[in-house]
Amino acid sequence: MNVVVPSETAEYERRVACVPDTVTKLRALGHTVSVQRGAGDAAGYPDRLYEEAGARIVDRDALDDAELVLAVQPLPLEDARRLRAGCLVISFLQPAENAELLEAFAARKASALSLERLPRISRAQSMDALSSQALVAGYRAALIAAEKLPRFFPLLMTAAGTVPPAKVLVLGAGVAGLQAIATARRLGAVVSAYDVRAAAAEEVRSLGATFIDLGLETLEGAGGYAREMTEERAIRQRELLTPHVAASDAVITTAAVPGRRAPLLVDRAMVEAMRPGTVIVDIAAESGGNVELSRPGEEIHHQGVLIWGGRNMPSGMPYDASRLYARNVANLVELLSKDGELKLDLSDEIVAASLVVHEGQVRI
Ligand SMILES: NC(=O)c1ccc[n+]([C@@H]2O[C@H](COP(=O)([O-])OP(=O)(O)OC[C@H]3O[C@@H](n4cnc5c(N)ncnc54)[C@H](O)[C@@H]3O)[C@@H](O)[C@H]2O)c1
Repeated sequence: MNVVVPSETAEYERRVACVPDTVTKLRALGHTVSVQRGAGDAAGYPDRLYEEAGARIVDRDALDDAELVLAVQPLPLEDARRLRAGCLVISFLQPAENAELLEAFAARKASALSLERLPRISRAQSMDALSSQALVAGYRAALIAAEKLPRFFPLLMTAAGTVPPAKVLVLGAGVAGLQAIATARRLGAVVSAYDVRAAAAEEVRSLGATFIDLGLETLEGAGGYAREMTEERAIRQRELLTPHVAASDAVITTAAVPGRRAPLLVDRAMVEAMRPGTVIVDIAAESGGNVELSRPGEEIHHQGVLIWGGRNMPSGMPYDASRLYARNVANLVELLSKDGELKLDLSDEIVAASLVVHEGQVRI
């Protein structure tokens, strides 16, 4: 199977879908691997390392003959329109927002597998790119909060006197939130957190942070995810969170509900109740924002509070984000490979759930 790894072309994207280690793995599965010249440069993987691992360095035209394309972001439309019949593309696809791209794959009789659609079952954990990239985002969020805050995170006892530790509040304790909690704790901050799922309380406590119980009902949805809040509940939750936000030096927001706009957790009045010199990092800024005033990729100053809006946060740590992503993808390719060929077995729930285009049909 001829595997092609194109350079990412989206703005702010520095990751790559295959690293030299995973070239080795893909070759061991019986595939040949071609990597577009310079595809790994921005992530810290030069062409030479791919060649040493046995990949060919090629131009983008190699997409014309690809049987399997590995990418991070959805392919540009013009690339989808050059694929040959039977080719499979694996990437993040945001299928609900990319109908034209899915139709373009279908028109070429190519197949497309959306990493957002992998079921979150134990067997798929090693392929779960949403989790691996959320981990990177959560880690970075804590580091950004620490860097932007004009105070120390840890308690410091110095000859000049004692400095108290920073108080960090994490809203949303899923994969990204838990990593933000763990990282802020390692830096010495006093951390508290809130989430709408019941299971989050124990996970937060196991990291040495305090779980904030607002006395509201929990909101579990399907697949271990949260449910959307009603407007009434959202208002009540914000009221109850206001004193916790106001008492914090740094707030990190990571809340999401699959397929929905990010829930609004911190409104303007809550920001205005914070002390000057405090910081908010909103990981969810791109998907609507957990914070009323956040803007993706921007730093906003509002009455002395700095609000940092995330934009493609995993791409800001591209070496390890790519390493984890590439392993997720290679593990998925392993599942799909039989004797150097791809076999798309629709009776496997991992394949059935994530294959969004197949044999000329869009399957969502
Ligand atoms: N293979 C697996 O079994 C597997 C893999 C990954 C994740 N998971 C589990 O799935 C769950 C969520 O994963 P995720 O981080 O990708 O979720 P996500 O990115 O969809 O959401 C992030 C967090 O925001 C929380 N949230 C949503 N609305 C909120 C609100 N109004 N207020 C506060 N918090 C709110 C969610 O409960 C979640 O914890 C976690 O329990 C995780 O452990 C399981």
